[in-house]
Amino acid sequence: MKPRPSPPHTSAAAEESFGHSPASINAWRRRTQAALDRGAQTPFYLFSPDSVIERTHTIENLNFGLPTTCWYSFKTQPLPPLVRHWVGLERPIEVVSEFELRAALASDCPPDRLLINGPAKHRWLPRFPIPGLRVNLDSLTELPPLLPMASQLGWRTGIRVRTSEEFDPENPSFPTQFGMEPEELPTALRQFRNAALEPETIHTHLRTNVSDPTCWTRALDVLRECCEANQWYPANIDLGGGLPAFTTRTRAGKPYTASFDPSLKSYAEHLRNALRPFVWAKTLWLEHGRHTCAESGLLAIRILDIKQKGPHRLLICDGGRTLHALVSIWEDHQLIPLKASTSPTTPAAVHGPTCMAFDQLGRRLLPSDVNIGDVLLWLDAGAYHLPWETRFSHGLCEVWWDAGNNNPTCERRAESFPESWILWQTTQQSGFGAKTRPLRQENHLDADGS
Ligand SMILES: Cc1ncc(COP(=O)(O)O)c(C=O)c1O
Repeated sequence: MKPRPSPPHTSAAAEESFGHSPASINAWRRRTQAALDRGAQTPFYLFSPDSVIERTHTIENLNFGLPTTCWYSFKTQPLPPLVRHWVGLERPIEVVSEFELRAALASDCPPDRLLINGPAKHRWLPRFPIPGLRVNLDSLTELPPLLPMASQLGWRTGIRVRTSEEFDPENPSFPTQFGMEPEELPTALRQFRNAALEPETIHTHLRTNVSDPTCWTRALDVLRECCEANQWYPANIDLGGGLPAFTTRTRAGKPYTASFDPSLKSYAEHLRNALRPFVWAKTLWLEHGRHTCAESGLLAIRILDIKQKGPHRLLICDGGRTLHALVSIWEDHQLIPLKASTSPTTPAAVHGPTCMAFDQLGRRLLPSDVNIGDVLLWLDAGAYHLPWETRFSHGLCEVWWDAGNNNPTCERRAESFPESWILWQTTQQSGFGAKTRPLRQENHLDADGS
C-alpha cells in the first residue's frame, strides 16, 4: 500500500509554532504595514514598548519574598525612544560602559536611578565624578581608583561575585571574565572598610539564556556563604539577567524556556527559597534584558532574489544575519511573510545580502507563494539586535518606533555612503600630513600620556 501523504502544513499553524498568539502576529503585521505606508524602506527594525513594560511588571509582581526592582539593561536594547519612555516611567537603568552612561544621562535619567556594572570601569569611570551613582565593583584592580571617588561622591557601592554557576557555556570548564572570586572578598572588603565604605549590594549574573531556575538556587547558595564567611550583610541582592525569551528557540529547535512555566512562578519559587536565609536582605534587583525586550521588535526585510537549487529554495533578502541578526547564529526566531497566506508551506532558506555563506537567517517552512519583492518579518528582534548590528559591506539600516498608537515614526535614517565614509576622514587627512594618527579615546591608563 502506498503511504498516505501527510497533509500539507498550513501557514497559520507554522506562524504560531513559536508561541506567538495570532493577535500579536496581527499587531506586528499592522505596525509594519503602517511603517511602510509612512515611507519605511527595508531593511528596517521596528520597535514598540508595550511588551517590555508588561514583561517587567510580570517579573516585579512575582513572589520572590523581597520587594523586587527590574533595572533596564541598556546594553541589551540601546534604543533612545525606549530609554526615554522608560525614564519617563521613573524606572532605573543599568549601564556597563561610558557610552551607555552618557546616553542614559542624555536621556534625562537622574544619577540616583543609574547602576554602573561591567568590567574594567577604572578605565573610564574616573572621568565621571557624579554624586549619587550606584556602582558595583568588578575586580580588585578597580578598587584603588574608584573607592576614593565612592567616598567623596556618596556612591552606593556593591561587589560582583563570580559563582561556580558562571562559566563560558561553550567551554564550561572556563570561568567568565566577570566579578571577583569568593576568595578575593576578604581583601576587597578590607579595602572597602578601610575607606569607611560598606558595600550595600552583592551582585552576580550567570550568563544569558539560563536553561533552568536551579542555576540561580546554586548561585545564591554561594553568595550566602560569601556573606556569612565575611560577616557582610548587603541589603540588595542583585541577580543580574539571564532569563530566556519565551518565543525563541535554539537552532536545534528546542525552546529556551523549556524548564520554565509560562507564569514564571517556579522561577520565583526557586529564588524565594534560596533567598530565605538572607535574613538581612531588603530588596532583590534583577536586570533581565533578553526576556523583557526580545518581543518588543522585529526586523523587516525584502526578498530580492529566489534561487531554486535542486530541492532547495533560497530566498536572498536585503537584510539578514550578518548585518542585523547575529543572534541567529545560536537562536532561531519566527520568520513570517508580512502578508498572511493560505498557501501550503514549503521549506525555504532565508539569506541576507552580504557575500558571506554565513549570512543565513533561518531555514523555515514558508508559504510557497512568497515571491521576489515580498517583505518577511523576523520577530523577537528587541534584544541584542541593534547593539550587534554591523556595517558589513553596507550602512546601518532604518529604525522605526511605534509608541503604541499605530503611528510609527522613523527614529533613525538609513546610513548613506558619505555618512559612513566620513568616519575615516581623520585617517585620510593623516595621509596628507595634517595628522600623523587618527584621533583616539582618552585613556588614563596610557602612562606616557600618548
Ligand atoms: C551585568 C549584566 N546585567 C544584565 C545582563 C542582561 O542579561 P540577559 O539579557 O541575559 O537578561 C547582562 C548580560 O550579559 C549582564 O552581564
